[in-house]
Amino acid sequence: MDISTHMIAKHIKEFSKNAHSYDDYTSLQQEIAHYLISHIHSKPKKILDLGCGSGAVFKNIVWEVEHFTGIDCAPKMCERHPQAENVEILCEDFESPSLSSCLNPPYDLLVSSSALQWAQDLEALMSTMASMCHEGAFAIFTDKTFETIYTMSGLPSFLPNAKALAVMFETYFTCQHEIKTFRLFFDDNLSKFRYIKKSGVSGGIKRLSVAQTKALIQNYPHSYLEFEVLFLWGVSNMSQKVNKI
Ligand SMILES: C[S@@+](CC[C@H](N)C(=O)[O-])C[C@H]1O[C@@H](n2cnc3c(N)ncnc32)[C@H](O)[C@@H]1O
Repeated sequence: MDISTHMIAKHIKEFSKNAHSYDDYTSLQQEIAHYLISHIHSKPKKILDLGCGSGAVFKNIVWEVEHFTGIDCAPKMCERHPQAENVEILCEDFESPSLSSCLNPPYDLLVSSSALQWAQDLEALMSTMASMCHEGAFAIFTDKTFETIYTMSGLPSFLPNAKALAVMFETYFTCQHEIKTFRLFFDDNLSKFRYIKKSGVSGGIKRLSVAQTKALIQNYPHSYLEFEVLFLWGVSNMSQKVNKI
């Protein structure tokens, strides 16, 4: 197992461990999901959500949906997703090669909010998924997230670069994108680091040694943490090709 695979596997365990408090620490993820979904105007009826977590995407859908499939590999997060007759939650890795046998394409909308930064091979995932959907909507944390911490620690960000991601997505989707920055304000530095631990966007900050973490907690210069998110909305190029045949 290489370092990034190990970190991701560890991360999924953290999601399950912290699932009970996830909603208390994720006002930002909820705001992101709201922004992402509020820009979808086509009222898609059949939806596939990658990394559905405790349901931030589902909870923001205000139109009638025929079938909603959520995928999340953290069992405790799956348990917290709203349930309904038209909601199906699969506790699976969205990159698992066997996942396609559990799916029922085509989907009107492939969506993912605050989860795809954890994909090990996002391009391979998109190349598979784009052929299964008509539209896509994605929000992904990118490498300017926690920029000050990375600059102070000298570690490279574990998160993907927004512009490179946007170029990659253009291969599979004809899309518009927006890069948004967010700041979350805290009373003290300890609360900021506690937030990073619980919120599921640690982005590899746990690679810091205890001494580095202590130094950062003492010396972090801002009253806020910074986040950068790439939003993409588009129509699948692969699905158009299928339709033209
Ligand atoms: C930050 S949470 C976002 C949850 C939800 N979409 C939201 O907006 O609040 C990321 C979710 O992605 C899930 N996740 C990360 N990698 C995954 C993978 N490879 N397969 C399935 N789920 C994954 C985690 O378990 C977690 O629930």
